[in-house]
Amino acid sequence: MEQNKFYITTPIYYPSDKLHIGHAYCSVMTDAMARYKRMQGYDVMFLTGTDEHGQKIEEKAKAAGVTPQQYVDQVVAGIKDLWKLMNVSYDKFIRTTDDYHVRAVQKIFTQLYEQGDIYKGHYEGWYCTPCESFWTETQLVDGKCPDCGREVQKTKEEAYFFRLSKYQDRILKLFEEHPEFLEPESRRNEMINNFIKPGLEDLCVSRTSFKWGIPVTFDPDHVVYVWIDALTNYITALGYGSEDDALYRKYWPADIHLVGKEIVRFHTIIWPALLMALDIPLPHKVLGHGWLVLDGGKMSKSKGNVVDPVVLCDRYGVDAIRYFLLRDIPFGSDGIFSNEALINRINSDLANDLGNLVSRTVSMVFKYFDGVLPAERRADAVDQELIDLAVSVRGKMEQSLDKLEFSVALTDLWKLVSRTNKYIDETAPWVLAKDETQRDRLAAVMYNLCESIRIISVLITPFMPGTAPKIQAQVPAPQEALTWASASEWGLLPAGTALNRGEIIFPRIDMQKELALLEEQQKAQREAAQAETKGKAEKANIAQVAIDDFSKIDLRIAKVVACEPVKRSKKLLKLTLDDGTGTPRTIASGISPWYAPEDLIGHNVIIVFNLKPATLCGVESNGMLLAADGKDGAAQVIFADGMEPGSKVH
Ligand code: ME8
Ligand code: MG
Repeated sequence: MEQNKFYITTPIYYPSDKLHIGHAYCSVMTDAMARYKRMQGYDVMFLTGTDEHGQKIEEKAKAAGVTPQQYVDQVVAGIKDLWKLMNVSYDKFIRTTDDYHVRAVQKIFTQLYEQGDIYKGHYEGWYCTPCESFWTETQLVDGKCPDCGREVQKTKEEAYFFRLSKYQDRILKLFEEHPEFLEPESRRNEMINNFIKPGLEDLCVSRTSFKWGIPVTFDPDHVVYVWIDALTNYITALGYGSEDDALYRKYWPADIHLVGKEIVRFHTIIWPALLMALDIPLPHKVLGHGWLVLDGGKMSKSKGNVVDPVVLCDRYGVDAIRYFLLRDIPFGSDGIFSNEALINRINSDLANDLGNLVSRTVSMVFKYFDGVLPAERRADAVDQELIDLAVSVRGKMEQSLDKLEFSVALTDLWKLVSRTNKYIDETAPWVLAKDETQRDRLAAVMYNLCESIRIISVLITPFMPGTAPKIQAQVPAPQEALTWASASEWGLLPAGTALNRGEIIFPRIDMQKELALLEEQQKAQREAAQAETKGKAEKANIAQVAIDDFSKIDLRIAKVVACEPVKRSKKLLKLTLDDGTGTPRTIASGISPWYAPEDLIGHNVIIVFNLKPATLCGVESNGMLLAADGKDGAAQVIFADGMEPGSKVH
């Protein structure tokens, strides 16, 4: 019998920086889904990759002093390491710099041009470089980028356009006839009402303002701009447009494109329209997930509030992080990431509930039966209740998993974990063990506990692929008792199975100690990011002056001969100076919060000799005293003792 295929994708990530926990969220969900479908017997294709072109990457590479290719190579290597660390079991990794992709994109672009779906025109609009987005005048918010609030630049350039407007009716029909095409439902309404119904405008699909992109074959001044380059990865990865398109014929159309909410529009309007133009079947479903946010804002490197998944995985283990991401965030909503929520989950669900269940059970089987599983003997009603629940969980989980509601599925699974723990309390094996006549009852209890653990270990496999084998090492089961289907059958563990004592699978975490440590780490990271951003901004804002301009400023040494506070001012001191000209000079300087007159009298300072006079609080000030920024906004006068008053400073 031929296997059913299942094709699922993540977005292709921008390799402009290291990925953060929000990106990991998307990949972990996709991975859990892919593993679940594989266990169900599907022939799965799980695609991920990187979206490597564009102005932002070009600029980042330039700032780093390397070529764009060198830049992305290094970031992509880190991304692949991250997926390896997190057990992300992708079947294929596409890079948009791969030559098969480049060739296929050029072919697609040319075909669309030749058939009239792409035409040449002019683009006038506002460009936000960090977001790589063009905006029309009306889309701007207070003249700034509506996405990030940063400055935008006015641009007009020759560009190619895709006739998106032509597909308006068909796109609307797609939404109306296939409500399952986009989920959750709230996103569907947003697309229809905010984007499709107001009218689709033709889309700019080429750029001439930067070079780091796929050249348009028939007009090489242009590079293909993001849409046709990025979205097509889902088909070019399978060999569409190449000599060998066997995978394309096998796996397309995609069963699920999993994407973040901000790119739902690209995947449910632009992507279907491109596919319609190419006369290719549409994907079955696009699922839009929410964002992982911190303190009410999206993670961003420049805010310094990114959470590094590598750090978390190293401290708590990959499966704890995977579990948290899948369990804590209801699909479609934004989820707030906090260290406290993470540690709470680990302690309650993993250390207390699951970890304890396994270690208590295994140690009881050792204590009462020398570590060998006794034969199954069901008896009480309480057994039947446990058994009924255990065999029903798989079916329940499937209903949620097919909608990617991992949080619901794991909640259902944890009901079984809790029920099994409760079963220990109800049956009180330590009491049974004291009574020789209860030996069979004790055996049945041990068997039921182990069987429940087997089922739990099977059902956690897609979510915690590293933990399942750890549990199964302690409570071993034959291969056929570890399949997805076997999770709804009771009694598959053979009597006589030898258990193994093992390590604690999830050690309890000391919340206070750990929070302090994490907060310190994250604070240091935030400060480093802020310093970097500030440094960059300052560097960018420094207006350079030519040497001729600088030499117009006449700096000289002067000696403070007298000094007194200015009555009408809290800040000003009035200084009388010997500037070497023989005529005393008066300067008012705002340094009285930090200096008393006697700190200054008799010392030499540096003054701007040719500054235009100004009257400050009734004192005519002729020039300015040089001072440096001290701590906490203090002014620090630059003393020049030992130099001759009147000397020029160059
Ligand atoms: O958008 N929480 O790439 P990308 C949850 N190259 N998800 C997040 C997140 C967060 N804090 N931050 C980012 C791109 N993501 C394009 C895609 S696809 C043909 C082209 C998610 O690296 C985001 O929602 O900016 C998106 O789905 C994915 O990471 C990639 O984002
Ligand atoms: Mg993005």
